[in-house]
Amino acid sequence: MSGQDWPPLREELRGVEPYGAPQLPVPVALNVNENPYPPSAAVVSDIAAAVAEAATTLNRYPDREFTELRKGLAAYLAQESGADLTPEQVWAANGSNEVMLQILQAFGGPGRTVVSFAPTYSMYPEYARDAMTTYVAGRRHDDFAFDLEEAARVVEQHRPSVVLLPSPNNPTGTALPHGVISEMCALLDERANGIVVIDEAYAEFRRAGTPSALELLPHHRNLVVTRTMSKAFALAGARLGYLAAAPELCDALRVVRLPYHLSAITQASASAALRHAEELLGKVEELRAERDRTVEWLLAEGHQVAPSDANFVLFGRFDDREAVWQGLLDRGVLIRVTGPDGWLRVSIGTAEEMTAFKDALRDALRDALREVTAR
Ligand SMILES: Cc1ncc(COP(=O)(O)O)c(C=O)c1O
Repeated sequence: MSGQDWPPLREELRGVEPYGAPQLPVPVALNVNENPYPPSAAVVSDIAAAVAEAATTLNRYPDREFTELRKGLAAYLAQESGADLTPEQVWAANGSNEVMLQILQAFGGPGRTVVSFAPTYSMYPEYARDAMTTYVAGRRHDDFAFDLEEAARVVEQHRPSVVLLPSPNNPTGTALPHGVISEMCALLDERANGIVVIDEAYAEFRRAGTPSALELLPHHRNLVVTRTMSKAFALAGARLGYLAAAPELCDALRVVRLPYHLSAITQASASAALRHAEELLGKVEELRAERDRTVEWLLAEGHQVAPSDANFVLFGRFDDREAVWQGLLDRGVLIRVTGPDGWLRVSIGTAEEMTAFKDALRDALRDALREVTAR
């Protein structure tokens, strides 16, 4: 048949570019909130041994309930946040990206709506599209704080079956107080029969005194808290995200997951890394301190900075943020153009990388100023 569109894509996918930050070969990559510290030799050798062991039975499908890993994750959450969880309250998939997609496949779907509040994580509309769920974005306050009145209005109007709330928020770094999470859970339960997903991808980087939503799990049947090993555990390449929730919510995800979705290699690597939680979290301490120093430096340089509980900082505001981004890239430092107009986001790297970032930013802005005055 001629004259028809080829390939026969779903209407809403036509002309859509695949999501992804540029993967450029630069000396200093501070654009996707990775952990700059590679696993230590001890972690590498433990993962290698666990993978070698798993390889001896690769002719068989893996444990589809990933029993050992669930136990390890529950124990880790107990240690990190004091959460008292059974393995049946834990679920995992290939990155929290896949966890979130499964949540929408199970609790969203055609005729249903998922809500988030902008600025928010840019993948949420994509998960919604892929799960054929309507996506609605409410607004945060101008200082990026959560606006409960606006949230109540949006929930009342759209009756979403899922609300996605990152805490700390990406790209702003803003964490949610317990009061907001509890109110949203009550609102969703009463007004929409829906669930509240607190996306805690960056939770381990939170400042002292900032709570985790895990503490609220015993109080709300519709609360889901997602986490990832990509950030604090420095394991982005292994692809392991997980969540904690009531057992009936975890069970629902078993219906939509693909058979044996977590490979034996993934399960073995993640379980091995969990055995080194203490060492890996030691680096988180360093990154938090580096984050706080970066915030202070940016403020001292006269920039606006969003307070951050994450391993990145949103700063601005620039008349031409693309030019500043390019100026940094020209000096070998890759950061991210994201968030509201005028803002840029930098991930926290090692002390040396942050020195390179600061030097490059000063340089790029001085050169830009020279250009303007020379005109
Ligand atoms: C807020 C937030 N949630 C989830 C993710 C996904 O992480 P992963 O799929 O690596 O677990 C990211 C990644 O940057 C993120 O920023």
